[in-house]
Amino acid sequence: MARRRQIYEGKAKVLFEGPEPGTLVQYFKDDATAFNNKKKGVITGKGVINNRISEYLMTRLGEIGVPTHFVRRLNMREQLVREVEIIPVEIVVRNIAAGTFSQRFGMAEGTQLPRSIVEYYYKSDELGDPMVSEEHVTAFGWATTQDLDDIMSMALRVNDFLTGLFLGVGLRLIDFKLEFGRLWQNDEMRIVLADEISPDCCRLWDTKTNEKLDKDRFRRDLGQVEEAYQEVARRLGILPEGGPGDVKGPKTLQ
Ligand code: TMP
Repeated sequence: MARRRQIYEGKAKVLFEGPEPGTLVQYFKDDATAFNNKKKGVITGKGVINNRISEYLMTRLGEIGVPTHFVRRLNMREQLVREVEIIPVEIVVRNIAAGTFSQRFGMAEGTQLPRSIVEYYYKSDELGDPMVSEEHVTAFGWATTQDLDDIMSMALRVNDFLTGLFLGVGLRLIDFKLEFGRLWQNDEMRIVLADEISPDCCRLWDTKTNEKLDKDRFRRDLGQVEEAYQEVARRLGILPEGGPGDVKGPKTLQ
């Protein structure tokens, strides 16, 4: 069989040419990096779980009217997505202080923020993803003020929805990172949610114990990394327990 053409290889995913024009196949690897590629490792089975979690969350978001690049999951590690032009800005939404926010403002991890805070970072490993303002984003032509208004309202909508969804399964959504892309259809451009949503790019803490169930277990060498990813999938009801097909849906806490 002819090898598919590889379009791009990132740190956690590979993009291949899709079966139809305007589509791509997004392949999820087990590779993990942190601190802009300075720390490298493998989280066995992560790709399979993130493919499922991202499918689940993108589908739920699509159902409430958030446009996404997701089309359908193809197999254990691959999903079909629409080809978009990625906007080189990472959108971070924070509800509770953690990570670089805690460092920057000297605020203890776990401190509730007065309201959700949205930050922009320029997507560049070489530069260490520097934080940027709307001024930089518009002056450098990465997005217009109108684009940023759309992105901001989608990001806050995603935050409200995911906060509730995760709370329902006993997880606090501390913060997360989103990426958006431009989707061209005929001569019209729409900004849609792209990339992935998974424990690689979210902080999720158990509501009762504050146990971290996300990539911080890898970043900070906390152990039980694979188990944490599995636990998130299990709580969302998307980890097949009795083999393929045994998917029951979210286990809502009583
Ligand atoms: P931070 O506290 O390290 O700035 O991260 C904030 C959130 O964004 C956290 O949930 C992890 C996520 N994130 C990524 O997914 N990719 C990145 O490159 C960075 C810097 C953060």
